[in-house]
Amino acid sequence: MQAVDTRVAFWTGALINMALVVGFAVYGVRQIRRGQVDSHRRSMRAASSLIVVFLVSYVLKRLWIGPEDLDLWGRAALINLWVHETMVAGMLIAGGMALVRGRRLARTRRVTGSPDDPKAEPSALQGHRRVGRIAVICSILGWLTACGILAQIFGVFS
Ligand code: HEM
Repeated sequence: MQAVDTRVAFWTGALINMALVVGFAVYGVRQIRRGQVDSHRRSMRAASSLIVVFLVSYVLKRLWIGPEDLDLWGRAALINLWVHETMVAGMLIAGGMALVRGRRLARTRRVTGSPDDPKAEPSALQGHRRVGRIAVICSILGWLTACGILAQIFGVFS
């Protein structure tokens, strides 16, 4: 019983954490659309830090509590889990690329505002925008499917 409660607590915390990730990411998009580059950078860094917190906590959870018993999960829950894992992988890969490309942009006039710094290549801006949008969309879909996983953990489908 205690292990079940710990799992419920862990996945509830993970869902709240991911809601914050989505919140920062969506807010970060709003900020860049308003021209607030520094705020955009801060929001996206905050989202990235929360993802790192989740990844560390997930490793610790696997070590202490172990994996979920997927044999008890129905087909719909397993498909939802597979879609979720795909979205999280997409968020990590595209988000990592957006961070790297964002760092390169940070040295340009587009971010510093200084005429002494080089102009950002249109292709660099477009590339960052593209992977950034993919990361944000994946984070939203990842959160939605995480709701289904928590419902499964709560035993809604059993
Ligand atoms: C995981 C981290 C990041 C993500 C997911 C992300 C996401 C995005 C997205 C989705 C856009 C396009 C917004 C739109 O639809 O118009 C964008 C634009 C932009 N981002 Fe980021 N971003 C990240 C990190 C950074 C960093 C570290 C910087 C550096 C300061 C940065 C600088 C910019 C700039 C300058 C633009 C505007 C590009 C343009 O003018 O077309 N981003 N970002």
